[in-house]
Order: sequence, then C-alpha cells, then structure tokens
Amino acid sequence: MKKTWWKESVVYQIYPRSFKDGNGDGSGDLRGIAAKLDYLQWLGVDVLWLCPIFQSPNDDNGYDISDYRAIMAEFGTMADFDELLAQAHRRGLKILLDLVVNHSSDEHAWFVESRKSRDNPYRDFYIWKEGKNGQEPNNWGSAFGGSAWQYDPATAMYYLHCFSKKQPDLNWDNPAVRREVQDIVRWWLDKGVDGFRMDVINLISKDPRFPDGPVAPGKLYADCSLALNGPRVHEYLRELHQNVLSKYDIMTVGETGGVTPAIARDYVAENRAELNMLFHFEHMDLDKDRERLAQKPFRLTELKRILSTWQKDLGDDGWNSLYWNNHDQPRVVSRFGNDQEYWEKSAKMLATCLYLQRGTPYIYQGEEIGMTNMAFETIADYRDIGVLHAYQEEVVQKGRDCQEFLRYQRHFSRDNARTPMQWDDSANAGFSGGTPWIKVNPNYRRINVSAQMTDRESILHYYRRLIKTRKENEVILYGSYDLILADSEEIYAYIRALDKQGLLVVCNFTAQTPLFELPEHIRYSAGQLLIGNYTVTDGPMARFSLRPYECRAYLFSFTEEIYRLK
Ligand code: GLC
Ligand code: CA
Repeated sequence: MKKTWWKESVVYQIYPRSFKDGNGDGSGDLRGIAAKLDYLQWLGVDVLWLCPIFQSPNDDNGYDISDYRAIMAEFGTMADFDELLAQAHRRGLKILLDLVVNHSSDEHAWFVESRKSRDNPYRDFYIWKEGKNGQEPNNWGSAFGGSAWQYDPATAMYYLHCFSKKQPDLNWDNPAVRREVQDIVRWWLDKGVDGFRMDVINLISKDPRFPDGPVAPGKLYADCSLALNGPRVHEYLRELHQNVLSKYDIMTVGETGGVTPAIARDYVAENRAELNMLFHFEHMDLDKDRERLAQKPFRLTELKRILSTWQKDLGDDGWNSLYWNNHDQPRVVSRFGNDQEYWEKSAKMLATCLYLQRGTPYIYQGEEIGMTNMAFETIADYRDIGVLHAYQEEVVQKGRDCQEFLRYQRHFSRDNARTPMQWDDSANAGFSGGTPWIKVNPNYRRINVSAQMTDRESILHYYRRLIKTRKENEVILYGSYDLILADSEEIYAYIRALDKQGLLVVCNFTAQTPLFELPEHIRYSAGQLLIGNYTVTDGPMARFSLRPYECRAYLFSFTEEIYRLK
C-alpha cells in the first residue's frame, strides 16, 4: 500500500457560518477562522475542510453557488481568503475547499442566460425537458420535497433540480460544462489550495432516458437518489483527474450517497485515478426511519457489520474516510452515545472506536468538545431549508402532528450540527458579539472550549491525545483491521496488526458493565495500555470488566508466528 500524507492526516471540518464571527454581524466568517488557527494547530489536525465559502444567495447555506471564483460577502473578501490560506500554510495546515458542481445557484450567470431562450448558448449547461401531458417530465422528487422539476414560463420547459429549485442541476453531458468545472478547479489549485471535498459528486451523470422511478408508500415522487452512480460518472471523474487533479499534490474526497464498498472501489481504487476517498452513508441511517420520519432502535451489531465491511473491503486498495458527524448530521454523542450522565465518557469512547480504525479521520467542529444536539422549541428556530420544506409538506399540507414532527427534527435535523461553536461561557458562547444567525445551544456554559482547555481530563484534551497517538503508531495508520466478538450488542472490539505489532481496541457502547474476553486464538505478549477513558490499574488485557462507556486501546506484540489475517 502506498503511503501518502493524506492517509496520515486528520481533517477538521469547519462550517464557516457557525465557527467564529470576526466582525460581530452574527455570522461566522474567514477572519473568524483565521483567529482560531492557533487553536486548530494546538489540537493537532492537519487539514481544514471549509464548507462552501463562495458567492451565494444562500438558499441552502452556500451549497448554491452563483460565482465559483468569488467569496461570499458575509464571509469576507478574496484578500481575507488569501490571508487565511497563507497563515494556515505558515502553520503547516492545509485547506480543502467544498466543490459544489452537481448544481449551481439559479442566480449563476450561466443559468440566468440558460433560461432566457431555447437557443441561448448556455441552454445546454442545464437539464431542460418538455413536460409530459402537461405534467413534469418524470416522477423524480427533490431531496428537499416536491418534484425535482421546475416549470419555467419564459421558455415553457422544465429544468431539473435534485435539491431546491434554486439549485438547478448542471448538465455534465455537455463538454463545455466539464471544461468550465476543470477551469474552476485549476484556478483554485493554482492559488494554492490543497484539495477538494466534492459535493454529491456521484450524482453528476444522469440516465439520458430519465426513467420514472419507484415511489415509496405515502410519497408522491421517486427519490432523486436513483440518479446516483449514473452511466458516465467514472468517465467524467477520470477526465477531471487526468486533466487537472493529477497535476497537483492534493487530496480529494467525494460525498457519495448510495454507495456500497463494492461500488466505492471503482471511485477510489488506486489504479482508477478518480478520487482518493469518499463519504458513504451506510452508518448514518441506522437509527433513522426516513420514510416514516421516526427514530428506530440502534443495533451495535449492525454498526459493526457496516464499518467492518468497509474496513475489510477497501483494505489494501483504496482508502476510507472515518466520520461520525458533519454539517448534515446530528451530533454523535446525542446519537450513538449518551449526552446525559455519560456525556464525557461516551464522547471519548466514540472517538476512540472510530479514529483508531484505518482511514482518514474527519472531525466536525465542536465534536472535539462533545457538543450535543439542540432542542429547538418551535419551527421558527430552525434555519435549514430541508426542515422548513418538510414542515410545509408534512405538517401544513398533510396535517401531521406538529409535536411529533418537531420531536423527529430534534433527533435528526441538520441544524443540530449548525448551532454556533461554543468557545467560552460569555454571551453567545464567545461565537459572536452580535445576534447569531441561529440560536446558540444553552448548554454552552457547561460545554465550551475554554473550560476544556484548562481541564486535562476533558474531551478536548482526549481528542488531542488521540490525534497524537495516531501519528506515533504506524499500526494505527497502516495496520490491518479485524473485528472480534462480532455478535456482541454491547462491546465493539477489533484488532489492528502490522507485522508483529498489534493494537486491541475495546469499546463499551452501553451504561452496563459487560465482561470482555479476548478470543483464545490471539497469542500475544506485553500488552500495554495506549489510551483509554478511565483510570486502569493494571490487570491483563485478555479479560476485564468494562465500566459504562469505557474504552481501552492496548498495544501488544504477537508471539510465535506473525498474526495472519483471515
Ligand atoms: C450535500 C451537502 C448538503 C447540501 C446538498 C446539496 O449533501 O452536504 O449540505 O444541502 O449536498 O448541495
Ligand atoms: Ca461575521
């Protein structure tokens, strides 16, 4: 397996709007980020992924871009960006931008032209179709509700938008679109950015027949995700790689819903020359019933099966990204942990469980201090376009019980991740001197960076230690992975191995005290505790009782013969 810097890096994801407000207008910005570089350097991360910072009317918080070469006014100027990049580089921190090119904003100059007339030179930059018997061209639905087609009276045709109607899908089958995208990517790379996270990148190639899809019970439209992994997606990614990406020493990670390990290999295997890594979502729907908008019971065996399959199947060819959180997901400590009595223990345990696996860790802002979900009280508190659209559809139109709807959103809404970063216990958590664009979680007085900085036993210090530990141990970076005790609903345990070097990771996902017993076929000597979330006073690593949400990682060496992977 090839060793490279991005396999050894830890990425920190920043949602600029909610990270740090540099000028007191209530919205985070680039100067705010620059002011926190010392903190990020102290934490030990290597790469900062910035969610979109480009000019945008903000229908979907920057995921609707109206100029790919300009900075969003609320976030600052191009000079601010250049300064941020230079300061980051001076500290050895790299910067990853968010490339959103499945769609643009409807306010992008291309679309303004495109909708003017059927023979406009930019017409084919987007996907226009005639209606069928006075209806939409097919039954695809938008991810935010309603049809994925919008009728445009100017030319009496429909355009496709897999997200909001202000996010028209670009037509990648048009070579001119692909050339424009390549130019944009090259332009930023020449400026010195270190790579891209590519938004819904496996949605760029649509089936040219635009077939109707299956409609789930209770729904009006087919899920637009049926257009994922389309017929020419690999061709387009290879072209981008060959013409542009391959010329720079950068990293790329694709956001790819609807991808299994078998499908993933075609995107990330080394000889494919497409992407370095991707984000799959198989572990993100474990506790969520999308159809019924309800919570469903979480089973640890399912989580283990999914994560372990990814670990094994993208083993030696290809690379995993490791994440619990991002700007679209609820907070993990409230989700797979316990954000009450065992808040601190479970936050540390979850980090240990995931970030000692093989792959590149992605830490989402606030995760390192155990930020929790936010119990917004009314619909007026929400900002996410996804929640607001769903409210219209479910509560206003279909008459679903409002309290039940809000209960679901308290668990799963994307706004859980978007409340302001909690820096200290001063007003607005030290995020802004103005009125924040979204409410601050009231638990900021207890959960904040400043308090955890001074407490060496805090979640924050633990994350820092964990990051350092990864870097100091090759077995964590490049060792193989094997799940043990696959049937346990309480314990997640696995073994990493690199030649004679072994690492045992044992995590208790419950408030109970299960007994851990190492399977007998693993012969070892000299187990030594590397990291854990409780004090351990000796005892063998082969057999011990776990305390609530306890985790331990032991370094050891295999005896006699070298441990072989099954
Ligand atoms: C991705 C982004 C999400 C956005 C969507 C449309 O899933 O992560 O925030 O709404 O794409 O761009
Ligand atoms: Ca600001």
